[in-house]
Amino acid sequence: MKLYTHVERVERELDARGLGSDQMLEAEQLADLDQLHYQGSKAVNEAIVELELGPGDRVLDVGAGLGGPARILAQNSGCQVTAVELQPDLNDLGASLTRRCGLARHIDHCCGDFLDMDLPSEGFDALVSWLTFLHIPENETLLTHCHRCLRPGGSIFIEDFYARPTLDAAQRDLLASEVYCCDLPTLDQYRQQIESAGFSDLQMTDMTAPWQQFVRQRLDAFRQARPQFEALHGGDAYCALDHFYAVITGLFDSGGLGGLRWKARRPD
Ligand SMILES: C[S@@+](CC[C@H](N)C(=O)[O-])C[C@H]1O[C@@H](n2cnc3c(N)ncnc32)[C@H](O)[C@@H]1O
Repeated sequence: MKLYTHVERVERELDARGLGSDQMLEAEQLADLDQLHYQGSKAVNEAIVELELGPGDRVLDVGAGLGGPARILAQNSGCQVTAVELQPDLNDLGASLTRRCGLARHIDHCCGDFLDMDLPSEGFDALVSWLTFLHIPENETLLTHCHRCLRPGGSIFIEDFYARPTLDAAQRDLLASEVYCCDLPTLDQYRQQIESAGFSDLQMTDMTAPWQQFVRQRLDAFRQARPQFEALHGGDAYCALDHFYAVITGLFDSGGLGGLRWKARRPD
């Protein structure tokens, strides 16, 4: 079953805005449609600064979704992105949007499971990922793969969930069934896993408070725009997305779910 059912919605939204399939686009123009994480292109621009990305840098984006972060990275830094995405429909629409933004020379869209892909060892200067690690249960294996892809001295920048001390069994069940998120580590477990995988210079930023505010505002804005959303996408789509946004908001409000940004380096 697919968790992300954005493809038809994005195409309908673009048509409704007079941006049908033959029109060229700007990466920033898509920001409310193609950034499937929190705080949109602002978070991606912060990664550009943190990683000091520039023209020619080779960046691996794990769980690229519709390619929104990859396009902002390429557009605003001039880097070369390999955008890996599990769902073929998201990957294909992502590649099409990238062509329409004139960024195809900067972004290579690759469809598959990151853990099964034959990516070049030490082939990347930086690895980024937004709200994807939470879907991949074997954190140790995942981190070892990330480490192998980075060149010595390369950096990793991740935004992800973590389990706060009060996350109870019912909330863990909700995360598994509604968010496809199993085995969420605590902050201490996460830190140990990152260090065991061989990363150094770890910096962790707790994003729980800003993300709690973000998801609350997202839910409120979504409910306010219900008539327009239903007119375009129908009542079933509205109810499904309302339910998903409400579950996430409830998990952050409960204090059990945490948000984390972390950055580290593969030692030289
Ligand atoms: C919350 S979305 C975020 C998408 C994108 N990072 C963004 O911020 O717009 C998580 C994405 O990770 C992808 N994903 C999950 N597991 C994956 C895996 N093992 N390999 C590659 N992609 C994966 C999902 O299909 C989904 O598109």
